[in-house]
Amino acid sequence: MIKAACAHIAAERSKVNARYKGGYHLSPELGWMNDPNGFVYFNGRYHMFWQYHPFAANNGLMYWGHAVSEDLVRWKHLPVALAPDRDYDADGCWSGSAVVRGGRLYLVYTGHRERDGRRVQTQNLAYSDDGVNFVKYEGNPVIGEDKLPRGASIADFRDPYVWERGGVYYMLVGTVEEGAAKVVLYRSGNLIDWEFFNTFLRRTGAGFCWECPSLIDTDGVDLFACSPVDYPHGKRAFANLNSNVYAVGKVDYSNGTMTAGEFYEIDGGSDFYAAQLIKGKDGAAVMTGWMNMWGRTYVPAELGDGWTGSLILPREVSVRGGKLIQRPVRAVYAYCKNRVEVDGVLSGEKSYEKIRGRQVRLVITADLGGAKSFAVHVFSACGARAKIIYDKAAGVLTLDRSECFHKISADPRDLGGERRSAEFIPQGNILRLEIFLDRSSIEVFAGEGELVMTSLAYGAPDADGIVFVSEGETAVKIIKEDVVAD
Ligand code: FRU
Repeated sequence: MIKAACAHIAAERSKVNARYKGGYHLSPELGWMNDPNGFVYFNGRYHMFWQYHPFAANNGLMYWGHAVSEDLVRWKHLPVALAPDRDYDADGCWSGSAVVRGGRLYLVYTGHRERDGRRVQTQNLAYSDDGVNFVKYEGNPVIGEDKLPRGASIADFRDPYVWERGGVYYMLVGTVEEGAAKVVLYRSGNLIDWEFFNTFLRRTGAGFCWECPSLIDTDGVDLFACSPVDYPHGKRAFANLNSNVYAVGKVDYSNGTMTAGEFYEIDGGSDFYAAQLIKGKDGAAVMTGWMNMWGRTYVPAELGDGWTGSLILPREVSVRGGKLIQRPVRAVYAYCKNRVEVDGVLSGEKSYEKIRGRQVRLVITADLGGAKSFAVHVFSACGARAKIIYDKAAGVLTLDRSECFHKISADPRDLGGERRSAEFIPQGNILRLEIFLDRSSIEVFAGEGELVMTSLAYGAPDADGIVFVSEGETAVKIIKEDVVAD
């Protein structure tokens, strides 16, 4: 099945239309991508795997796609790593993670099986010495129905996240029980024999299943992330169909539980899910995520472009004052070229001849003074645009794609999907926005990374207009650089 998938990709990839495909974001050569999986630093390179359906630009039978990078910005595609070719994963090799043991790379993933109206999800192992070819462990599943803890559901028992601490391997698995979502913890000395340890974290009224749990220690705390399905909407946050949340706390390794604070949204935009946190090269705390959302229409698939889905620009993360701080991975700056800088006082609409582009980094420092609001319109052309708006009186940053060229519709349980807002109070009235555009994506880092908002937005073909709009007077300094990696 791997050979057939690779042959299909090789035969068809030249037919992909890349008009909306990011140049410095990882996306499949062909076909559908969802969650990042098995993100790991192994033998001098970062490896990224992902939920992959190579045969269509829509969700389907899951394989694991695979790419490597030295710096998390420029990726090289490798052959498909896993195919659903066993009884226990016949309906999909679903999400999971990776760990290195004794120079060998291990992938731990959910085998999904759906037969005669019964869904069974088990945890399985595959390994590789060269980091390219993977062998499935013959004793799979390593965690099957016999090891399901009481109160968990075998139908929703997935997305193992593995780490090592003091010679012991730990695995979180997301699941659900009557009225509550939770993650359960297993432990093992050899990655093969696993024993149930404890319910790691459990909450009521916090969504259905918690997908894609993830955990790292950083800045003296434990940082937990997961993706709750159908998380209750907040006033502004948690507006997507499924949310991606983090909590800060402490793991008690003596009993296998975590004491964690409130859940906060990781990203305030429309398109961010299934984040995976890892300790990368030199112990760096890095996060990836799927730059998309379930329950939406997918424009590249609708247009027949032959692909759908990409991952965020990886982020360096830290915890300050109990809150997550996210910065673009620093390697991206080496790809930023052709710097243009302007400054002045804006009132009304203004654009600059040299400030345009669809694959750019913008850094805007705006002294809002007496202004009511300040906005940046991107992918602007043919009367269509996406807007990044800061409303000073409300203290709210909004990412609005409702005036884009191609519309995205959303599941009715999603709050529209077109506009996302988040509270943000800039220090000393100076708003700093660092914005990355990549053909159809917008990632906005506000302040020092206290707030990040990510949304897909499809402008008119080749729309590269960037327009600044100030209601009242705003003194601005604007830097524009092209991000050139493809
Ligand atoms: C999250 C998810 C996971 C699952 C995978 C299937 O987006 O639903 O829970 O393992 O996608 O592709």
